[in-house]
Amino acid sequence: MSWALIPLTEEQREIQRLAHDFAREEIAPHSDAWDRDAIFDRGTINRLGELGFLGMLIPEQWGGLGLDTCTYVVALEEIAAVDASVAVAMSVHNSLPTQMILRWGTDAQRERYLRPMARGELLGAFALTEPDAGSDAASLRTQAVRDGDCWVLTGTKAWVTSGSDADVILAMARTDRPDDRRGPRGISAFIITPDMPGFTVGKKEDKMGLRASPTVQLLFENLRVPATNMLGAEGSGFVYAMQSLDNGRLGIAAQSVGIARAALEVATAYAAERRQFGKPLKEFQAIQFKLADMATRVTAARALLYAAAAARDRGESITQFSSMSKLLASETAMWVTTQAIQILGGYGYVRDYPVERLFRDAKVTEIYEGTSEIQRIVIARELYAK
Ligand code: CAA
Repeated sequence: MSWALIPLTEEQREIQRLAHDFAREEIAPHSDAWDRDAIFDRGTINRLGELGFLGMLIPEQWGGLGLDTCTYVVALEEIAAVDASVAVAMSVHNSLPTQMILRWGTDAQRERYLRPMARGELLGAFALTEPDAGSDAASLRTQAVRDGDCWVLTGTKAWVTSGSDADVILAMARTDRPDDRRGPRGISAFIITPDMPGFTVGKKEDKMGLRASPTVQLLFENLRVPATNMLGAEGSGFVYAMQSLDNGRLGIAAQSVGIARAALEVATAYAAERRQFGKPLKEFQAIQFKLADMATRVTAARALLYAAAAARDRGESITQFSSMSKLLASETAMWVTTQAIQILGGYGYVRDYPVERLFRDAKVTEIYEGTSEIQRIVIARELYAK
């Protein structure tokens, strides 16, 4: 079965093979246990780093592979098809903190943080959301107050992917004064490391899916951040976060395509082997129609993802495309995994086959990095943008 509607270059096929083989050989044997016991395996992250998968979009000048977004989403799909938890760590690291430092950091920040992040020696996280500021991200309340050569941050960040294990966290906090609130323009971005005084990891979420990816609260209690660790311009942190989420959403779309394609593969193989009423399931039209719709939706989601990635590589604004891509891919992942369980019947509902995990992992793709409802808002707003 050939999956790519849009032809890949020889280099892209090579990286796809590398990601595919690595995922099959070094991740697949452990995925069920990591999911069951909620284990985040740092060794696997280190291996991803050694292979260059944590510096895919970082120029060679800063220690990365300097690849394009198309190649990145191809590799990410391969990892996600085997383990969506590993894929989300790879996605967040590549799409959010590293891109933010690359784009808005100083050379000193790039030298200190980006170079080791490109090699996977430091793992990145992104802390925007708070317990009371989810979809309405600009309502965040973590406050930063200037004190000499430091900013002192107080507040709680929530739903931080890899937050307990990250070495570098890009956190958004208010730098406007309580008597002079500036809405989204009162928010700045900071580079935070766990060794800064006042940093604690809070509650770890006990999740339905992506159980091998730690999702935590981060507590900032008079967290002292050197002023040199502010990223870019004061008051621009929210806009940086939004621009970065344009990239991040492509990563989640790639993760979703990987999940959906894995479920399709399992269901296709199962329908060929499983016999009922004297013939294989694949000979029943009801099953054929399901598989046909699943394959069509996976292919459409991947084609939109590649088109959006190509637009980014051409330097175009992808705000609308990346929301469309994430929306289509995540809803495809949820729908396809649901159909896969239906085809497997009782066997799909237990852990003997991977579709049970794929179904649980798919759900969050409709929620994080902006819910499907937020994606629709972004898409609709862009229809009216000048
Ligand atoms: N690119 C560039 N600039 C952007 C932008 C984009 N994609 N989106 C917004 N902006 C700019 C606007 O132009 C505006 O700039 P000006 O001040 O110059 O006018 C500013 O940002 C404020 O924008 P809005 O007025 O549109 O802000 P809003 O409050 O209406 O919010 C929203 C818009 C789209 C709803 C936004 O809040 C949003 O995306 N919410 C969802 C948040 C989200 O995705 N969170 C996920 C966090 S990460 C995660 O899930 C966990 C993890 O670890 C993976």
